[in-house]
Amino acid sequence: MTSAYKITEHKYDMVVVGAGGAGLRATFGLAHKGLQTACITKVFPTRSHTVAAQGGISAALGNMSEDDWRFHFYDTIKGSDWLGDQDAIEYMCREAIPAIIELEHQGVPFSRTEEGKIYQRPFGGMTTHYGEGPAAQRTCAAADRTGHAILHTLYQQSLAHNARFFIEYFALDLIMDEEGVCRGVLALDMAEGTLHLFRAQGVVLASGGYGRAYFSATSAHTCTGDGGGMALRAGIGLQDMEFVQFHPTGIYGAGCLITEGVRGEGGILRNSKGERFMERYAPNAKDLASRDVVSRSMTIEIREGRGVGEHADHIHLDLTHLDPKDIHEKLPGIAESARIFAGVDVEKQPIPVLPTVHYNMGGIPTNYHGEVVQLKDGNPDAVVPGLYAIGEAACVSVHGANRLGSNSLLDLVVFGRAVANRCAETIKPGAPHKTLPGDACDKALANLDRLRNANGGTPTAVIRDKMQRTMQNDAAVFRTGETLSDGVRKIREIHASFADVKVSDRSMVWNSDLVETFELQNLLGQALTTIVSAENRKESRGAHAREDFPDRDDANWQKHTLCWVDDAGNTRIDYRPVHMYTLSDEVAVVPAKPRVY
Ligand code: FUM
Repeated sequence: MTSAYKITEHKYDMVVVGAGGAGLRATFGLAHKGLQTACITKVFPTRSHTVAAQGGISAALGNMSEDDWRFHFYDTIKGSDWLGDQDAIEYMCREAIPAIIELEHQGVPFSRTEEGKIYQRPFGGMTTHYGEGPAAQRTCAAADRTGHAILHTLYQQSLAHNARFFIEYFALDLIMDEEGVCRGVLALDMAEGTLHLFRAQGVVLASGGYGRAYFSATSAHTCTGDGGGMALRAGIGLQDMEFVQFHPTGIYGAGCLITEGVRGEGGILRNSKGERFMERYAPNAKDLASRDVVSRSMTIEIREGRGVGEHADHIHLDLTHLDPKDIHEKLPGIAESARIFAGVDVEKQPIPVLPTVHYNMGGIPTNYHGEVVQLKDGNPDAVVPGLYAIGEAACVSVHGANRLGSNSLLDLVVFGRAVANRCAETIKPGAPHKTLPGDACDKALANLDRLRNANGGTPTAVIRDKMQRTMQNDAAVFRTGETLSDGVRKIREIHASFADVKVSDRSMVWNSDLVETFELQNLLGQALTTIVSAENRKESRGAHAREDFPDRDDANWQKHTLCWVDDAGNTRIDYRPVHMYTLSDEVAVVPAKPRVY
């Protein structure tokens, strides 16, 4: 097999796969710490999906009003519906403050207060005094283009520290040795059609989420869960895949994001009667309840006949009462998106919106250092040597069953930084690379060769469309045993139909047909683990709302799901305990209680 394909070998201390916020923060951090670092990315770094993040990044800086990282810790646990690991949440909320100050010093052009401090806006589920005080203004913003600002700064910092970028390289598979240690990654240079083996002491998967397993998502078309797909093929189980976040305000029809920052700045959701219906569902937080609560409330309004539009199938987001000066200064991007994608002038007309898939809480399980963990010989926290995951590709788990808005950019930066710090402690720059067995790349090459020459009867796009529509219908905001078991059956069939995939272009050079097929393979594994895990979890928690099991069941289900898929599409489920302990005595464990806003 190896003889059929020529492979160029590269040696680095560390390889990062992905150049979004997490990948770039890790790349910069590793290079800054003196480790020779390569970053492999399938898109130009500043086109990574983080560029689309709008509303901001959370940190209890207290620039606008009283705040404390311990309040942030409490809110994140409550937002997670008590599925988040409390040690990791403590780490993230405490480290948020130095991590944001670092970004400021690196040059992120945050919006400013009158006194020149970083501007912060309210976001859903962010409160003070452990949920008893007023809403926190905790989300640091660069107008409504915060991700764009952070991504550009981190790319510049990575270049300044001599990280090496391999741009428009598609990571095909992890190279694992006989002892289960990750030794590198095999990648395709899409432009030249050449293969590259990146050998490293550690591989950091920072490849983003798999939002494109669904039909309508705020995620870019590039969000195909390539890291999760590689992890599954390497025999690693994915965690908490049943928890898929629907953002309340995707533009109706187009699906693009309208930031929660709109509601943070005073925007209101209204039904066909013009009612501010969130007052009924979340009397205190109203439009700024957490996302799962708002998405469900919108869905109920539509189901009960109070949706807007010709088909009464969406909701209005009203900004018409806001000061146009505030819209121009704080929300210029969404005004433009609403004009282009919905044809509305936000100063005069409401924006038509609908809950839209936005974020995967589940992913590759890690500890708070970014080290990938698995169940091994009874140890639920056994580290997979040489393999790390961060950002949306990972499940640390700081978001548990439901992520709070603006905790994602934070997760990227804090854990990108954490993995760099960990590797600087454990990996010696320039250490020799262990010899690889001669067949180390054979499995990856066989997969490449099979898909490149796939001559079945079903084009990639047809299988993808079926998968996306099934996930959209059967693993939706509300789920039932019936929709889920029907969905499991259909997704199993669609997964199996990949054996009949047809790739028309046989070349190696810029073969988008082939690359989309690799992406579909990655998506299919994650669609399957998502719907199987959802069918398996017989309770409602966070974003997983089952109509047949409407209550949270801590006695039986306060545990992380792990789900594996083998090459034949067989799935296996097991569990890891939720970390109900903290790292220090500066915060106390927050015991589970009913979650009301
Ligand atoms: O609404 C938003 O701006 C999205 C933020 C997030 O998902 O964290």
